[in-house]
Amino acid sequence: MAQEVPSKFLLDLHVQFILGLDKKKDEFEYWASEQLRLNGVYWALTSLDLMNHKDDLNRDDVIAFVLSCQNKDGGFGGSVEHDSHLIYTLSAVQIMVMLDAVDRLDRSAITAFIQSRANADGSFTGDAWGEVDTRFSYIALAGLSLLDRLDAVDVAMAVRFIEACRNFDGGFGSTPGAESHAGQIFCCVGALAIVDALEIVEADKLGWWLAERQLKNGGLNGRPEKLEDVCYSWWVLSALSILDRIHWINKDSLIQFILGSQDADTGGIADRPGDVPDVFHMLFGVAGLALLGYPGLKAVDPRYCMPKYVTDHRIPNRRNIQSREAPPPPPSSQSKLDMEI
Ligand code: FPP
Ligand code: ZN
Repeated sequence: MAQEVPSKFLLDLHVQFILGLDKKKDEFEYWASEQLRLNGVYWALTSLDLMNHKDDLNRDDVIAFVLSCQNKDGGFGGSVEHDSHLIYTLSAVQIMVMLDAVDRLDRSAITAFIQSRANADGSFTGDAWGEVDTRFSYIALAGLSLLDRLDAVDVAMAVRFIEACRNFDGGFGSTPGAESHAGQIFCCVGALAIVDALEIVEADKLGWWLAERQLKNGGLNGRPEKLEDVCYSWWVLSALSILDRIHWINKDSLIQFILGSQDADTGGIADRPGDVPDVFHMLFGVAGLALLGYPGLKAVDPRYCMPKYVTDHRIPNRRNIQSREAPPPPPSSQSKLDMEI
């Protein structure tokens, strides 16, 4: 039977979804045994914190699990005895920062691992297999900044590599010449914001490309001709937020799209209405709503996808990117905002 489209944020149901109360398993085991375990813990913990339910997770269990994923090379695997990768290493750092447990981390070992992934041209590889991607540039710079160790890499070279991945449309791809993609744009704009190098971004051109990602149903896609997807509420909006252009999309219709992607029976948010919910889209749905100022949610830092109170505490001297004066929409976009959607 078709579900009724939820018109409100189903916070309590989402908390239950994440904690797995409807499953017969132990709470911790349920969310920690997701396919990408350490990422899954980051998605779950961040969602809960934004919904003011962080303490529903057992802090000691989470810390023990994170530490059990660290390898001798200083990096973290997706689970116990899995090879190290930058992606899981950032999740580990983010979780420990959110739990105010950075003192339990071996900062030097993690820094050395991230440093070992740097190439002479300013790019980064995710692991020993050597794939280069601007996702890894972001992860290296975000992780090091959270550890207060940005001095460990050549930031100017890292910025130069990101600049080499900028395209004619103002967007960024995974490598030089690769097509613009909203996920990579989050990574590049987020990394540039973290190291205070946003002058690399052609803000109006990119802002327009990002605003064009909104479809008639209110949802955002990641590239032209692609389907809308709740996770792009994060990848697109975070970049627009950093560029002070979040008002270039129609907020109300995006809120309706995200609310419509909730599962009113089980809780959780799916990639789009009617699909099966998962904890990845749960996070990016709730973080998107938080960026849109939805009531009852904590503010989120668009650079880190972590609660703002956490990054304010961890990186107190950061430039307050939300407080600059926002530019008006370009004249040509006014009709779009007023009528089209
Ligand atoms: C789309 O992926 C998303 C990206 C390419 C960005 C991924 C970013 C990271 C791993 C950095 C860490 C992230 C955070 C929030 C701290 P996709 O494979 O779903 O793309 P598709 O829609 O084209 O399939
Ligand atoms: Zn998605």
